[in-house]
Amino acid sequence: MAKNKDARPPTFAVSVVGLSGTEKEKGNCGVGKSCLCNRYVHPDADSYYTEHTSVLSTIDFGGRVVNNDHFLYWGEVSHRGDDGLDCKIQIIEQTEFIDDQTFLPHRSTNLQPYTKRAAATKLQSAEKLMYICTDQLGLEQDFEQKQMPDGKLNIDGFILCIDVGKGSSRKFDDQMKFVNSLFSQIVKAKKPIVVAATKCDEYEDQQLRDLQAFVASKKNLLLIETSARCNINVELCFNALIQQLDKTRGKPKTVPYQEAFRIQ
Ligand code: GTP
Ligand code: MG
Repeated sequence: MAKNKDARPPTFAVSVVGLSGTEKEKGNCGVGKSCLCNRYVHPDADSYYTEHTSVLSTIDFGGRVVNNDHFLYWGEVSHRGDDGLDCKIQIIEQTEFIDDQTFLPHRSTNLQPYTKRAAATKLQSAEKLMYICTDQLGLEQDFEQKQMPDGKLNIDGFILCIDVGKGSSRKFDDQMKFVNSLFSQIVKAKKPIVVAATKCDEYEDQQLRDLQAFVASKKNLLLIETSARCNINVELCFNALIQQLDKTRGKPKTVPYQEAFRIQ
């Protein structure tokens, strides 16, 4: 974690994780990691993309944005809390890129399964470029080019995305099996974790209740009910993690989805 000496704003790196893999694991759509990152880093409507494909050609997988890794660098957000304290947040999404020919995961240098790989707290990728959107891949020069700092990041905390939406063909129990094994890995890193319930704009009652029970069964775990599509509780979710990374900050008030929707 960066130290706040010479009054420079501290910088924190956050890793966004959740069920990833082939269609067999994921069903017909992802759990919403990319959209949550997109909404946090570029909140305005014109910069929000609903589709961020993970099925890539070998050329796009090897380009400077993906850089043969199974993670994306989403860039940096300047954050000012209610208390006026500044900090910078760098965002990583841990996913799994699938080959558009074989429909199997692309081969990368890291051969660990997702649940282990996504728990990494030290990430490195020389000259890796910030990801913006799917159309950027192969046309990097037409988009803003920002590099991941020094090609190195130390992860300070995790956002664990769990899809409670109605729209997926995957079974919620299968997602939770994956999440249980992912959670047991990231917990070993001994860094703060916040759970983001994703797609709450179309949430399934039972799934949200099951997720609430999962979170309540863990010590000091916080659940934030989000919708990237409607931009509800996305900032709150990252703020809740930042508060745990930097205890000098005040605690944000957590607001359930329905209430946040009403006061929007
Ligand atoms: P992979 O990286 O491929 O594993 O997927 P992901 O976890 O990054 O999921 P992604 O953000 O790409 O979203 C998958 C699908 O869910 C897309 O069609 C999104 O538009 C949709 N989606 C994401 N967030 C929301 C949301 O808040 N509400 C609704 N209704 N749909 C969403
Ligand atoms: Mg993604």
